[in-house]
Amino acid sequence: MCGIVGYIGPRSAAAICLAGLKRLEYRGYDSAGIAAISDGQLDVRKVAGKLASLEEALQAEPVAGAPGIGHTRWATHGKPSVTNSHPHLSTNGRIAVVHNGIIENYGELREQLIAEGFKFLSQTDTEVMPHLVEKYYEGDLREAVRRAVLDLQGAFAFGVICADSPDELVAVRRFSPLVVGLGEGENFIASDMGAIRPETDRVYVIDDDELASITRDGVELTDLALKPIEREVFVIPWPADAAEKGGHRHFMHKEIHEQADAMHACLAGRLSSPDQPIVLEGLQMTDQEIKGLRKVVFTACGTAFHAGLVGRFVMENLARVPAEVDLAAELRTRDPVVLDNTLAVVISQSGETADTLVALRDLKAKGARVVSVLNVVDSSIARESDGVVYIQAGPEIGVASTKAYTLQVLTIELIALHFAEVRQTAEHATLRALKEALLAVPGQAQTLLDREDDVKAVAEVYYQMSNSLFLGRGVNLPSAMEGALKLKEISYIHAEGYSAGEMKHGPIALVQPDLFTVAIAVAGEVYEKMIGNIQEIKARSGPVIGVANDGDNVIGDECDHMIWVPPSPELVSPITIAIPLQLLAYHMADLRGEHIDQPRNLAKTVTVE
Ligand code: F6R
Repeated sequence: MCGIVGYIGPRSAAAICLAGLKRLEYRGYDSAGIAAISDGQLDVRKVAGKLASLEEALQAEPVAGAPGIGHTRWATHGKPSVTNSHPHLSTNGRIAVVHNGIIENYGELREQLIAEGFKFLSQTDTEVMPHLVEKYYEGDLREAVRRAVLDLQGAFAFGVICADSPDELVAVRRFSPLVVGLGEGENFIASDMGAIRPETDRVYVIDDDELASITRDGVELTDLALKPIEREVFVIPWPADAAEKGGHRHFMHKEIHEQADAMHACLAGRLSSPDQPIVLEGLQMTDQEIKGLRKVVFTACGTAFHAGLVGRFVMENLARVPAEVDLAAELRTRDPVVLDNTLAVVISQSGETADTLVALRDLKAKGARVVSVLNVVDSSIARESDGVVYIQAGPEIGVASTKAYTLQVLTIELIALHFAEVRQTAEHATLRALKEALLAVPGQAQTLLDREDDVKAVAEVYYQMSNSLFLGRGVNLPSAMEGALKLKEISYIHAEGYSAGEMKHGPIALVQPDLFTVAIAVAGEVYEKMIGNIQEIKARSGPVIGVANDGDNVIGDECDHMIWVPPSPELVSPITIAIPLQLLAYHMADLRGEHIDQPRNLAKTVTVE
């Protein structure tokens, strides 16, 4: 969840690390720090709070020199404070460490190290590392880091510098993401490629238990037994400015507006015409294997879980395979039965979510084949999957997931349609109509983005209320849940996503004039029932925002305010419906003056269970 950056080369490390940390701030933002080697000494600046405070501290008292390392923190052990922020130093003050992950056996290591005379200043798990490196340092930094790591249990990506080895930066990983960026006469490390993309498009993606010894002129990769590793250079496929705000006030806003283009990119080469079969290269499944499927299990967290809920619906409906969906954090607790020929579909924007990775491993250990639906290329989940279908969304920086969600749903719909084609479980005309609808989705998305002001006008009416319900049924129950999640996580308005059919079994008790309801009532099988639910709420004086198809003359009279969406087949509708709900959440949060890209207590990539 934390972000790390490091630099070695002729330039000042502090400026490069700070710029990289800004691109990583979505990973955590409760404290930050930088250390660099300057005139044979470690120079360190640390602050509690956001990176802007670190920037001020560096302006007031600049840090010169290189190599250097930087960190933006999302607290796990020890509250956010200057003392607990990284880099952490060794007792002799010569070694500095930044860390992303959790060291599980830090308690016992800490006791041992204290008994050996090492002095701890913080409450963090990380601090054992600089002391361990000091303990093992005999003039070779890589060897000291290697020996220290052998003592550790848990997850980590470390960047380590030492004032007595000023020509080297050492990095190592186990279960936490790490890349080494390759420059000319300079090199970089970072938690993800986006952090260093403006500096270089060439990286080594580091694997578990791999150690990188980095100088200005080279990178040596080894395993923990110091056996050399040959790694192909990965060329980052997006432009240098893809992770910048590009004129938008917030990354979330930029990413919402990127959806139409990203949908085109996601469809490209996969679905070109309603009369052509769907091609999904990354799936790595033969027609025989698709025909033989007995069960599909979707698993994911948060927004990606909502995409999985849509996935279950379309998979059963079209491909006629029994399908389940599990929250990744819950999957392990219920020990699911995995039949022969079970396919696990693992959904994740980052590809690094710890709960999702653990669920993947569990399902794989039970014999499931794993296909993941991912955004970030070459992530941990990608590397452990049998097949990967990338959603092609480009970098998503805003903590609240937007374009990743719609593209996850689009990608899963492509998979379900492909399965239905191969298994011959749906009428040709049905498949053709759905393909036509998917091809129309990017255009509809653009139409919805062009109507942003209409959604903003609705947000202006309701943004001061404290409670809300989002109701849907069938394939749009996940749309309601996702709409509620977006609103609560960035505006802090209490929002519940609920099945409209469940209202009368409890939640209707909440309805009163100061709770607004967003009711999704687009054309389809559940439309009439949704109208009935809206009337029940109106009868109890609850204000209702309807989400309905353009040209629906009935529903406008039932609701207080309307959000109109272009018509599409019900199975495809969750993709477009998500867009105005994202905009509603965005504008409500903005009107309330909240930190949209950095909502409180949240981090973009949750690499702890
Ligand atoms: C909500 C949100 C989170 C993520 C969840 C999974 O807006 O972004 O709920 O969807 O943490 O993250 P990934 O998709 O990276 O596995």
